[in-house]
Amino acid sequence: MPIAVPTSPQAFARSDDPKGTKFDKISDAVDDINVAKLLASNPDNAYDESAFDAEKDKAGFRQFVDENESSRRFYIEQHTKQTVEFNIEARRKVFENARATMGVWEAMELLNTLVDASDPDTSATQIQHLLQTAEAMRKDGKPEWMQVTGLVHDLGKLLYFFGSDGQWDVVGDTFVVGCEIPKEKIVYSDTFGENPDLNHPVYSTKYGMYKPGCGLDNVMISWGHDEYLYLICKEQSSLPKAALHMIRYHSFYPWHRERAYTYLENEDDKQALKDVLAFNPYDLYSKSDSLPDPVALRPYYEGLIAKFFPEKINW
Ligand SMILES: [Fe+2]
Ligand SMILES: [Fe+2]
Repeated sequence: MPIAVPTSPQAFARSDDPKGTKFDKISDAVDDINVAKLLASNPDNAYDESAFDAEKDKAGFRQFVDENESSRRFYIEQHTKQTVEFNIEARRKVFENARATMGVWEAMELLNTLVDASDPDTSATQIQHLLQTAEAMRKDGKPEWMQVTGLVHDLGKLLYFFGSDGQWDVVGDTFVVGCEIPKEKIVYSDTFGENPDLNHPVYSTKYGMYKPGCGLDNVMISWGHDEYLYLICKEQSSLPKAALHMIRYHSFYPWHRERAYTYLENEDDKQALKDVLAFNPYDLYSKSDSLPDPVALRPYYEGLIAKFFPEKINW
C-alpha cells in the first residue's frame, strides 16, 4: 500500500544532494543544450505552431557549449549505465515500493521544496517552470488537456527523491535501449563506449530486440522522468493519447528532433511525432517568460487537474 506523504517533505531529501541543487544544475544544463539546438534548427514541422514566443528574442538564450564539462560527465554516466538490464529492473522496481499518495498540486509543491533553483537570479523554480509551460499554452488558446499536460510534464522528476540511483536515470535526453545507438543523432554520442550493450550480439544490431516498424509503443526508451510519469498518467489519469505522447517523448530528442529510429515507427507514431513537436516549444521557450505566481494560479489549475486526475495519485 502506498504511504501518505510524511509531514516533512524533507523525509524525501537525498543525503547525497540535500537541497537538490546538483540535480537542478544538471537539469538546467540538459535543457540549455536543447534550447540552443532548437534555436539553431528553427523547426518548421510543428503542425500547430506556437504563437506565444513569436516576439521573443530567441537569441537571448544561453548558447550550447559543446565542451560543457558537467553535461559531458553527466552523459558519460547516463550513456554507460542505461542498459537493457537496468531498464527492465527499473520498470520492475518502480511501483514495487511504497512511496507516496498525493494529488498533483501536492506533488508540484513537493518537487519545488526538494529542488533549490541553483541559479536563483535567472532560473525558475520547478513549480514556476511547470506553470510557465502551462500558461504559455493557455495564452495560445490550447485545450485544457494540453494545459494540464504542460503543468505536470516534469513531475516525474520526483523519481530523483524516490530512490533513483542518481541523476542519470532521471533527466537527460532519452534513447532506445536494446538496439543500435544512432550515434550521429544523439547528444554526446561519443560517450557510449563503456555501455556493455554495445558488445551484445543482439542489442548492438540495427533493430536489436525489435522488429522493423514495430511502433514506439513497443520499444523500451531509456528510463527517466518521462517514462515514469507516462506510466503513472497512463494508469491514473484520463489524459488523451496525445498528452501521453507529449509526456513520454518530450526528452526523446534523437527521435523527435533528429529523426533517428524511423525504422521502428508505425503509423501511430506519425501522430505521436506531431504531438510532441507541438508540445516542445512550450517546454523550452517559456523559460524566459515572467515568473508566474503559484498562489494566484492555483485555483484555476486545481480546477483543470480535477478534470483529468483523481484526488490522490499513487507515486
Ligand atoms: Fe522534462
Ligand atoms: Fe520541462
